[in-house]
Amino acid sequence: MTTELEFATESLEKNGFLDIDVDPTLDLFEEINRLKKEKNAIILAHYYQEPDIQDIADFIGDSLGLSQEAARTEADIIVFAGVHFMAETAKMLSPHKKVLLPDLKAGCSLSDACPAPLFKKFKEKYPGHIVVSYVNTSAEIKTLTDICCTSTNAVQIIESIPRDQPIIFAPDINLGRYLIKKTGRDMVLWNGSCMVHEIFSAEKIAKLRMRHPNALLIAHPECEAHILEKADFIGSTTGLLKFTMRSEATEFIVATEAGIIHQMEKSSPHKTFIPAPPDNTCACNECPHMKRNTLEKLYLCMKYELPEVILPDWVIREGVKSIDRMLEISAKAGL
Ligand code: 13P
Ligand code: SF4
Repeated sequence: MTTELEFATESLEKNGFLDIDVDPTLDLFEEINRLKKEKNAIILAHYYQEPDIQDIADFIGDSLGLSQEAARTEADIIVFAGVHFMAETAKMLSPHKKVLLPDLKAGCSLSDACPAPLFKKFKEKYPGHIVVSYVNTSAEIKTLTDICCTSTNAVQIIESIPRDQPIIFAPDINLGRYLIKKTGRDMVLWNGSCMVHEIFSAEKIAKLRMRHPNALLIAHPECEAHILEKADFIGSTTGLLKFTMRSEATEFIVATEAGIIHQMEKSSPHKTFIPAPPDNTCACNECPHMKRNTLEKLYLCMKYELPEVILPDWVIREGVKSIDRMLEISAKAGL
């Protein structure tokens, strides 16, 4: 007879997660904390995760902070509450540790916009160019990359490259255009974008600002240029969070995934945070990939140590070089 776990494991390939009913009377916070201790596991969570997951995590951060933590942790198991490329990055940095992702189908539209075979052909058209890739890429793209970057360190990474060295920047065209403006460097750009950050409506934001004249507009550099032009502050998720903590303003319109607002409200309970409105009526400022992770899936993945992120040795060996290079430059820049 097939056991519940055998059945769930068989369906893992189709569903991307362990599809097992969880006893609704279980205190999941207590269970997850118990499993953390029992298995010497650490939970790393991105700011775009649901509030419960952020609250149970050992470390919450942006893409750079999460990679730094994955490189330095002494835990035996890294449970990555984020999306697939983030868990792959953790695996490349800590290849001997078990890296778990509650739902393997938690992908990323930016990463999907840059398939390795197409990017390889694109790269061949620009001989002599150095490749800088945003960390939101597959492990295979990282094997074709010279230096990775995140939105926290992208300016410093570009500025570390000699001015006469031509650059290909992939895959986010919005971040690429922002970097060209910020650094004055001309770069060849791959045409990818984030489905969440390209949805904000400049018109609706303008109307919102009329109703909240003292509110500051803060935006992630993955947003389109017409939104960034109007922003009072542009930064990575950590950059935006820190800005709201130090700013004297008490109202902010937040143009990034709405999950970050949980930490903003916790850090500055007396301030007001308004999610920037999308171009239509859906809740599109929530990333459907990030939100595939739930507390139940987190619990199941820790209990059964599945699904696990596995990468071929050559991908780890070749891909990690671009991440190591990024971490070295970041450390030198004090980031
Ligand atoms: P950061 O957290 O590095 O700012 O990145 C935002 C993002 O979209 C992650 O997928
Ligand atoms: Fe990818 Fe955008 Fe979701 Fe971040 S918010 S994981 S860039 S789709």
